[in-house]
Amino acid sequence: MPFTIVIGTQWGDEGKGKFVDLLAEQQDIVVRYQGGNNAGHTVVVDDKEYKFHLLPSGVIQGKRVLLASGVVIDPKVLLKEITALKEKKYIINLGIDVRANIIMPYHILLDLAREKAANKPIGTTGRGICPCYEDKVGRRGVTFFDLIDPVRLQQRLDVIYPEKKALLEKVYNEQLLSSNEQIISEYSVYGNQLKQYLTDVSLELSQNSNNKILFEGAQGTFLDVAFGTYPYVTSSHTIAANAFVQAGIPSEKSMIIGVAKAYTTRVGSGPFITELSADNYNKTENTSDSANNALIGDYLRKQGAEYGTTTGRPRRCGWLDLAMLKESTRLNGFTALAITKLDVLSGLDEIKVCTSYLFQGKPLENFPHNAVLLEQCAPVYKTLPGFKLTPELIKNKTLPENAVQYLRYIQKNVGVPINFVSIGPERSQTILYENGVE
Ligand code: GDP
Ligand code: IMO
Ligand code: MG
Repeated sequence: MPFTIVIGTQWGDEGKGKFVDLLAEQQDIVVRYQGGNNAGHTVVVDDKEYKFHLLPSGVIQGKRVLLASGVVIDPKVLLKEITALKEKKYIINLGIDVRANIIMPYHILLDLAREKAANKPIGTTGRGICPCYEDKVGRRGVTFFDLIDPVRLQQRLDVIYPEKKALLEKVYNEQLLSSNEQIISEYSVYGNQLKQYLTDVSLELSQNSNNKILFEGAQGTFLDVAFGTYPYVTSSHTIAANAFVQAGIPSEKSMIIGVAKAYTTRVGSGPFITELSADNYNKTENTSDSANNALIGDYLRKQGAEYGTTTGRPRRCGWLDLAMLKESTRLNGFTALAITKLDVLSGLDEIKVCTSYLFQGKPLENFPHNAVLLEQCAPVYKTLPGFKLTPELIKNKTLPENAVQYLRYIQKNVGVPINFVSIGPERSQTILYENGVE
């Protein structure tokens, strides 16, 4: 199987970056294929922390890294990442698909203006992702092909700019301070600096079909624009099948690894059935008080350093949701699971796992297809005994029996082997289970 696809099973930040870095050692090419710098992927190697928003996490392993046509690219952010790595003496073997769309300054302004004007904001990362994808499908986008030629860029922007200016100023009462000419001259410089990396990713992948290719998913399954908790989603398809569409190659049977946190987090708005907050208390059928609920949520946030890599926002925290993992498996076709941040649960007396939902008091068979329906669900929990992972156990990569029992429970319910378990942010803090957890 030449392809491996790494996918977030929840609402993002599952630890995909860590696994892409780990798996990249055995790969030839690592490809990002959707999303943009709304992503924040953290890799920790030998106590050094790297945060990537656009560059595929395989870059530290010195692999060929590609940004496929489906990625929306803020050239300023990309140049900053390239410079930071070059300063650390890394060799960057990067290819950018010439078809990829550029995030322009008006996209960022529109993203922020819409959030400000909305009565129910999505809680976006404010990086211009949605307006850029809108322009792509609306055929008003600026691609790298346009960016590298000032004449073509001018021709594109002469049509696009007046509309954006009017939209910002007349609808949202916001100023687009840069003139068309200023944008053209600033962005032509970026085009010039990035020109050296341009390639045809679709063609390159076809011509290297004997290579081992790893696709690095961004965001998570429940942020998929169609199959996530719509409308509280991102603006691209995050599920595995999209890797082939965005890279421009025929689909093939692949190893598809679902990365799942041992609990659940979410940044931004939208339903979160197992959230451990005082507000969400009345949804749980449990008798513990709401303050205790919030305390466990705070405990997970603190232990897991659950603050967004991109925006620094505190992440909402809650118990693991197996109904979500099962739906994620149905949508992506996982062949393996990677469970991350198991160490974060250490120290809790008991651990709850949501096994299914009740909808209007009755068991629900299929996962709700919409945020409105999901909001009306209540979790059914199974309680499992807690465990303690001491630094010594982590160092020896040994798990206490109750931790193994927790993993077995997940594996049995989801029906996919857990091949990897992460017990710390370091690349080396990973346990491999070739045949699943026994
Ligand atoms: P991604 O967006 O899916 O790549 O995930 P992020 O990088 O945004 O968030 C995951 C965070 O958890 C990062 O800070 C990682 O360094 C960290 N991390 C990954 N795996 C583990 C783990 O097993 N234990 C702990 N404590 N931290 C982890
Ligand atoms: P990684 O790849 C977590 C969330 C935002 C918001 C929604 C829409 O690090 O897992 P957008 O800016 O995309 O229009 O915001 O999606 N979101 C993420 N949450 N991890 C991410 O990426 C995310 N990318 C977007 O918080 O709720
Ligand atoms: Mg992240």
